[in-house]
Amino acid sequence: MARLDVTEVFHGISFPGHLHTQDSLQLALKFPFQDTDILIVSYPKSGTTWVQEVVSLISSKGDTHISENVPNWARSPWLEQYYCAAVLESSSSTPRVLTTHLPQHLLGPALHGSKAKVIYVSRNPKDVVVSFYHFHKMANFLPEAGSFPEFLNLFLEGKLSYGCWFDHVTGWTNQTATMNNLYHITYEELSQDPRGAIKRLSSFLQCPLVEDEVNSCVKQCSFSSMKHNKMVNYTLVPEAIMDHDKGSFMRKGKIGDWKNMFTEEQSQHFNSVFKSKMQGCTLEFVWDERDKEETRADKLSPLNNTKL
Ligand code: A3P
Repeated sequence: MARLDVTEVFHGISFPGHLHTQDSLQLALKFPFQDTDILIVSYPKSGTTWVQEVVSLISSKGDTHISENVPNWARSPWLEQYYCAAVLESSSSTPRVLTTHLPQHLLGPALHGSKAKVIYVSRNPKDVVVSFYHFHKMANFLPEAGSFPEFLNLFLEGKLSYGCWFDHVTGWTNQTATMNNLYHITYEELSQDPRGAIKRLSSFLQCPLVEDEVNSCVKQCSFSSMKHNKMVNYTLVPEAIMDHDKGSFMRKGKIGDWKNMFTEEQSQHFNSVFKSKMQGCTLEFVWDERDKEETRADKLSPLNNTKL
């Protein structure tokens, strides 16, 4: 299935036709979740692959065998992508770990009444847009990136593939008030306090780890380790689909890289759009590596009402 130039528009949102069909998207909306499932939810470039790796390592108590031998899309497939059903059929592992980029308003009904554990991953949106821009340049299944100012406008207008970041984040995080089984983790929390973030996530997953197991997880999911692990760095994907001469999936792995791309004017415009679209949202984002005091879990996951 190449379909590199195909875009599927589904409920007004564009999805790359290389990975999605109308059928696969439609099937996702009726996905029969099991109460034992773990679902990782994110807007692209928010740290999805990182959390997939962390969840694999927590589930295997720090054992790196799966991390070193099974590609991330085979251990935690995207439920809206066309190959998901085949992957699930060929795997007997429990709990099943699934991933999705679908917004809450589309996937919410399928999750209604389910006890599946949902992990929502967010990242500050200025870094998301920069990471997404660079990813568009190497991913041949996404539209041309164009110039950064053009790309930034499309992001702010919610017109990029996978839809509007603002709707995605507010849609899912608003659910924390009513969904006991929803856990919110941030890219920045994982970056600034990996040990604490892994311990908290392992508690949510009811998979407590001893110190040596935590150490192994921390080491295996570090940026340098993941950058060289072909099971998660996407170098297994053929060049025609992801051109690694044009960039790396594991690009910089930093907080605040947006400062290298945004002009002062773009940053101010972004802030005003952010302010109007996020009105009433109490989430606080870490925009800069130096915002160390923001690493406290209660700051980073203010809506996290998970009952452990
Ligand atoms: P950058 O492009 O800013 O480097 P996703 O998996 O949601 O597509 O997100 C990809 C982003 O997460 C990329 O960001 C990638 O480098 C970053 N990332 C992945 N693993 C990471 C890790 N272990 N540490 C820090 N960043 C990581």
